[in-house]
Amino acid sequence: MNPLKHVAIIMDGNGRWGLKNKNSRNAGHKAGLKTVEKIIKESIKNKIRYLTLYAFSTENWKRPKNEINFLFSLLDNFLRNRIKELHQQKIRLKIIGNKNFTQKLNKLLISAEKKTLKNKKLQINLALNYGSKFELLNAFKDLKKSNSIINEKNLQKYLSTKDIPDPDLLIRTGNTKRLSNFLLWQLAYSEIFFEKKLWPDFNEKDYNRIIKKFRNIKRNFGNI
Ligand code: FPP
Repeated sequence: MNPLKHVAIIMDGNGRWGLKNKNSRNAGHKAGLKTVEKIIKESIKNKIRYLTLYAFSTENWKRPKNEINFLFSLLDNFLRNRIKELHQQKIRLKIIGNKNFTQKLNKLLISAEKKTLKNKKLQINLALNYGSKFELLNAFKDLKKSNSIINEKNLQKYLSTKDIPDPDLLIRTGNTKRLSNFLLWQLAYSEIFFEKKLWPDFNEKDYNRIIKKFRNIKRNFGNI
């Protein structure tokens, strides 16, 4: 049985779900947040140590302003209402990506990270304004500046996921098979599951089904 330390998720399909069920993309994001809550709980039950969620990519700025504002207001509310409880559950929140939002949101994110810094039950890495190519370019620049030898171990020190093991498992919901500039370096040997369901329809049972399949895969890492 494969150990499972780190699950990464591309939570795709909110917009389509919202349009189909409520005639509003934003309603899909709201429903998507409920799935986030379910998956956090289920990750703890499964003793998963790291959960990385792709919440907003560097490319998502191309979306209509009203959708962007709605997503950030959801995040703002989530942090205000839930951080105390997450902290009590020994959950650590870490942001990966470039924190260049409004001063108010940046402050909130930094304070949530600080508050939960020492928690060890589950670490949620929330990818916000995250793009893997940007992350890699900056890491290469920093590595060059450091004058250290250019190798994998040293490059890793400059990634936003330093100190976090690479994901064992990537799940993408929403019936789309692509990586969308997410953790391109870190996913080199991850097992990838593309799920037909839209993110708001994804549930604990689906998650456990994938985890069970993952546990039984023969992982070779290039060996035989
Ligand atoms: C992709 O679906 C989803 C997003 C860009 C946002 C993800 C956000 C949430 C799940 C809720 C907020 C989370 C937190 C932690 C506050 P899409 O909109 O691209 O779906 P589509 O492919 O159907 O258009």
